[in-house]
Amino acid sequence: MTPSSDIATRMTETADRVTVALDQLLPRVQGPEQKLMSAMRYAALGGGKRLRPFLVLETGRIFGVDERALLRAAAAIECVHTYSLVHDDLPSMDNDDLRRGRPTVHRAYDEATAILAGDALLTLAFEILADPNTHPDANVRCQLVTRVAQASGARGMVGGQMMDMIGSELGDDIAAVTRLQRLKTGALISVSVEAGVMLGRAGEEAGTVLSSYAHDLGLLFQITDDILDVTGSEDEAGKAVGKDAEAGKATFVSLLGLEGAKERVRYLATQAQNHLAGLGPRATYLSQLVDMIAERRS
Ligand code: IPE
Ligand code: IPE
Ligand code: MG
Ligand code: MG
Ligand code: MG
Repeated sequence: MTPSSDIATRMTETADRVTVALDQLLPRVQGPEQKLMSAMRYAALGGGKRLRPFLVLETGRIFGVDERALLRAAAAIECVHTYSLVHDDLPSMDNDDLRRGRPTVHRAYDEATAILAGDALLTLAFEILADPNTHPDANVRCQLVTRVAQASGARGMVGGQMMDMIGSELGDDIAAVTRLQRLKTGALISVSVEAGVMLGRAGEEAGTVLSSYAHDLGLLFQITDDILDVTGSEDEAGKAVGKDAEAGKATFVSLLGLEGAKERVRYLATQAQNHLAGLGPRATYLSQLVDMIAERRS
């Protein structure tokens, strides 16, 4: 099996298992408020690469963490990510009609339902993390809740989304755009790796190496998203492309041009791989993931 098919198979397997876990954790569709549950399920169960869950699972596996615990943490972080997409697509934000190859939640339902479904997915994430089934030690659960909250909130993803909305005001300040990317996308990617580290009670050395890896991977992932907005197709990406420039978004493509952004991808990919060197074959899938992201079309 070639490395690329190896990782692709592994990612598909993980995605399927996470979808099953989410299906069990999401509320059933019932009661007068059932439109909400239906919209939450539509958003969370309708595809997606499940990259953040993959990172939780692969990192936790390095330290021999129980798979059920990993799947719960992975599902929780995917709930936060899914909520961020539902709100990101709203007319008041990126105003998108297509997500994961289907109509966005506010299109399939309505705007109020999309806002509420996002709110409920976010809070469900913390309900899952705080449950003793996620980890028997309350200190570990508390640590997980705290770090996921920090990564998701004003000093993490939501803060990055605010910077994204005022993108054109950032001008050509590369430090500001790097921080924007780091917050809006990098923070959740970092906490996914960190969740595996926390659940595995990994030592400081491995934790530091993996957090450096996640830092570079997060930037790499958002830069490839920005490149795909220019070079990708709606069919492959499952979402509209060609919108960032028109909306005046500050991206690495707007700053460095397409070739400059691609150069940055190669640099970050090499750096991310180098961080993993000390972990040896235990980090094979995390390492293969770097190339997969660098070359992705969706
Ligand atoms: C899209 O994330 C939003 C960004 C942070 C770039 P993904 O590309 O991981 O979206 P899904 O989950 O696969 O749909
Ligand atoms: C969104 O970034 C990042 C989030 C926190 C949701 P984008 O707006 O670039 O993501 P896409 O391109 O719509 O998936
Ligand atoms: Mg956006
Ligand atoms: Mg968007
Ligand atoms: Mg984008």
